[in-house]
Amino acid sequence: MLKLFGALVLLGLALACITSWVLDSYDTAWHPKRSVQHPAAGDGAGSKGSSPPFPGGELDGIFWFLQVSDIHISRFHDPRRIPDFEKFCTDTVEVIKPDLVLATGDLTDAKTESKVGSLQHEVEWQAYHNILKRSRVMERTRWIDIRGNHDAFNIMSLDSVNNYYRKYSANQKVGSFHYVHKTPFGNYSFVCADATLTPGPKRPYNFFGILNQTQMDLLDTFRVESLESNQSIWFGHYTTSTVVSPSPGVRDIMRSAVAYLCGHLHTLGGLMPVLHSRHPQGTLELELGDWMDNRRYRVLAFDHDLLSFSDLKFEQWPAVLITNPKDAQYLHPGVEPLGRIRRSTHIRILAFSEASITAVHVSVDGEPLGKGSSAGGPLYVLLWDPSLYLTGLHTIRVKVEDSAGRTTEREQHFTLEEDLTPSFGFVQSFILLTDHYILARAAFIFMMLLNVGVLLAFRFLSVPSGRGLTSQACMSLHLVSKMDLFYYSLLLFNLCTALGPWFVGELIDGHLGACFAFGVFIDGYFLEGSLTYVIGVVQMLFFNMPLTSYLCWSLHHRSRGNTFRSQFLRPGCRWRSLVVHLFMLLLLTWQAHSCYFLLETYGLMACFLSPVRTWAFGLSLLLVHRAWTGPAPFIRDNSKSVSPS
Ligand SMILES: *[C@@H]1O[C@H](CO)[C@@H](O)[C@H](O)[C@H]1NC(C)=O
Ligand SMILES: *[C@@H]1O[C@H](CO)[C@@H](O)[C@H](O)[C@H]1NC(C)=O
Ligand SMILES: *[C@@H]1O[C@H](CO)[C@@H](O)[C@H](O)[C@H]1NC(C)=O
Repeated sequence: MLKLFGALVLLGLALACITSWVLDSYDTAWHPKRSVQHPAAGDGAGSKGSSPPFPGGELDGIFWFLQVSDIHISRFHDPRRIPDFEKFCTDTVEVIKPDLVLATGDLTDAKTESKVGSLQHEVEWQAYHNILKRSRVMERTRWIDIRGNHDAFNIMSLDSVNNYYRKYSANQKVGSFHYVHKTPFGNYSFVCADATLTPGPKRPYNFFGILNQTQMDLLDTFRVESLESNQSIWFGHYTTSTVVSPSPGVRDIMRSAVAYLCGHLHTLGGLMPVLHSRHPQGTLELELGDWMDNRRYRVLAFDHDLLSFSDLKFEQWPAVLITNPKDAQYLHPGVEPLGRIRRSTHIRILAFSEASITAVHVSVDGEPLGKGSSAGGPLYVLLWDPSLYLTGLHTIRVKVEDSAGRTTEREQHFTLEEDLTPSFGFVQSFILLTDHYILARAAFIFMMLLNVGVLLAFRFLSVPSGRGLTSQACMSLHLVSKMDLFYYSLLLFNLCTALGPWFVGELIDGHLGACFAFGVFIDGYFLEGSLTYVIGVVQMLFFNMPLTSYLCWSLHHRSRGNTFRSQFLRPGCRWRSLVVHLFMLLLLTWQAHSCYFLLETYGLMACFLSPVRTWAFGLSLLLVHRAWTGPAPFIRDNSKSVSPS
């Protein structure tokens, strides 16, 4: 699923590159540096952070927390995943002692053993619950776990008995919420944006989340409330690019946050190890790699209201986080008091390890500054003079050693100029900042119009004369469009892909539904189309269009007097014909696999009542058979029509 999504994203990227030359609007989203607006910068750039407290040599004004995502506790796969996660809850949490932990969705895997079907397994939830209990992690920190798309598979309503999240999670809160973390030095808002679907269909139709107007209004009240806090963090399972929301959109709702933390895309199957970007509104979007395969987690800190974070790997000690001066890439001048970096007296570093920390070496721009000294807890500080670095981009390098002989080095850029923030990679920004469902919808409509348009046009245009390659191609399209059987079958098939139901079946166990390109109906509820368009594009690209082309090609051969057998006897054409047939066979196999997929995910009924999958498979076999065994078509001289002889 994710690899497919990754491949499609890259395909979309190629398309979008072309579009971006034309459309300036994309430009603003992808080069946010030039367009960052700072809605919260009430007191004007430069003055923000000119008032105390300033980062100094004491353990104050700082707290830190963890994020872990996409745990996917599974009864079938990767038996190490559960004990490792338990070790995370006991050992890692014990070493780091975070104020809170955000588990951002996909707590359980909820798939069948073949990984194709999906349902809630109570044993997976019990395993999760037992880990929380045995590790007593909820007594040692505040554990905030939310649902991901996997935790919502096959759930009709939030009150359903199989909504085990209600019974076994720590948080048990469905829907969005606002939690204020209170400390002696300030209040910090954590707002959860819950876009999981209700009702929750089985795989794969909840890959995109939805926030409806009611939910957006609720989130907006949270945004207003959170303005009282020193800083706010938003978090959720889905990236903003995989949430369907009414305008002005989900990114706009969270514009006052310093960052949005999410998961969901794992690392796109390894393609994108780091997925971070910045919204046009200035908010950072920080996707975290999965626990499932990559055992990732993240430590974040607010130090004097400046956010810093480090993406880590389980059991790799020491863990290092430089909180002052913070990484230049992740500055948010709109909401962070960046002036405090300039007025700070100490470099500040959080260093965590199972063994005791023995040394923290600091150097700036390649010059050793000295060793950090402990300020209590995991905080190490070193006196510095920021006025030496007032202009330009600088590099700070920290090397931490522990008594077990392990070392970690961390290097990052920093700057004391606010408008010197490096921008994020184009591909990362494309993946996180594009509303993929809109792109997919546009691509789907375009392909559909192309397909139907070509059929209609050649039905009613007159047959050209000529012997060039293009006129040969046109000729074959005329053959297909002017023979009723092929024309009406293909037209009906394409229209059905566009407008008709793709299949009817139990989208949720015990609840009937129908899937269309524009959305999914389940038991009276309607879920707006998103992934459906992506699947529609794939269907058009790998079945509807090749099938049409193959029929054109076959009929063209027939019109020149060839039969299925004789085409192989002509020396020049033999290999070419073989390749074309094999290609068609491959596509038919793929379509047959889609029918099997439907059977596995939604059962027998969906498999039988599926115009776009099973019926289309039968239809295509019939058409291919007719193309080769039916009467050979010929084109009447001087006339405008084609007819079977
Ligand atoms: C948090 O906000 C309060 C009230 O505005 C302010 O007094 C306090 O200094 C802030 N805390 C930090 C760490 O900046
Ligand atoms: C945090 O919020 C409480 C009210 O919930 C308020 O009394 C307190 O002054 C706030 N603290 C800071 C530092 O702003
Ligand atoms: C929005 O979604 C919530 C929860 O899924 C639901 O209770 C509510 O009725 C929906 N509102 C609208 C306007 O569709």
